[in-house]
Amino acid sequence: MDAISALLTRASAARLIEPAPSPKDLETIFASAARAPDHGRLRPTRLLTIEGTAREKLGRAMAERLIASNPQAGEAAIAREAKKPLRAPYLIAVISVVDTDHPKIPEIEQVLSTGAAAQNIMLAAHALGYGCLWKTGGICYDDGIKALLGIQSGDHIVGFMYLGTIDPEIQDIEFDRPDGNSLVSEWR
Ligand SMILES: Cc1cc2nc3c(=O)[nH]c(=O)nc-3n(C[C@H](O)[C@H](O)[C@H](O)COP(=O)(O)O)c2cc1C
Repeated sequence: MDAISALLTRASAARLIEPAPSPKDLETIFASAARAPDHGRLRPTRLLTIEGTAREKLGRAMAERLIASNPQAGEAAIAREAKKPLRAPYLIAVISVVDTDHPKIPEIEQVLSTGAAAQNIMLAAHALGYGCLWKTGGICYDDGIKALLGIQSGDHIVGFMYLGTIDPEIQDIEFDRPDGNSLVSEWR
């Protein structure tokens, strides 16, 4: 798929199934992330891959977090939380390791660079024929989850990229997308 087609057709996948991207395609996806713009060449982005039973371990930690943060959470909600990482065969936690004391490059620019890397992952996956979904939620801002993943509390989980094959039996989520021109106004 050419770049413009990928940009104009990318969408979040409704449901992801096996197989995960092949090792060769993962190399391309990682290389695309590494190509994100990066002010000051600070290299803030780290990619943590989570597959197989590691997804179950993450799901258990997510369920424990839900119980701790919401003692009223019912059995069904706890079970649903534990199963969330199983909704794709392959996850990438996209992390921004920030230098908050940098004299020139503010933290937000470092996080934006990692956000661009996350978007490159989505676009590369789409161009290679896979589905991708960018997931966040409270777990991204939770020190316990960060510690479990080996991330310092001051660093940022920009998102969990859920990757896999688009389930052909589930319709894509369709909605009205803004027209590009509607974002634009001229400043004089
Ligand atoms: C920073 C960020 C966080 C997101 N977190 C979630 C999330 O937690 N759960 C989810 O279903 N989608 C999440 N999304 C995906 C958006 O919901 C999705 O992009 C939006 O609905 C538009 O759909 P599209 O990707 O098909 O354009 C996130 C997207 C971004 C950029």
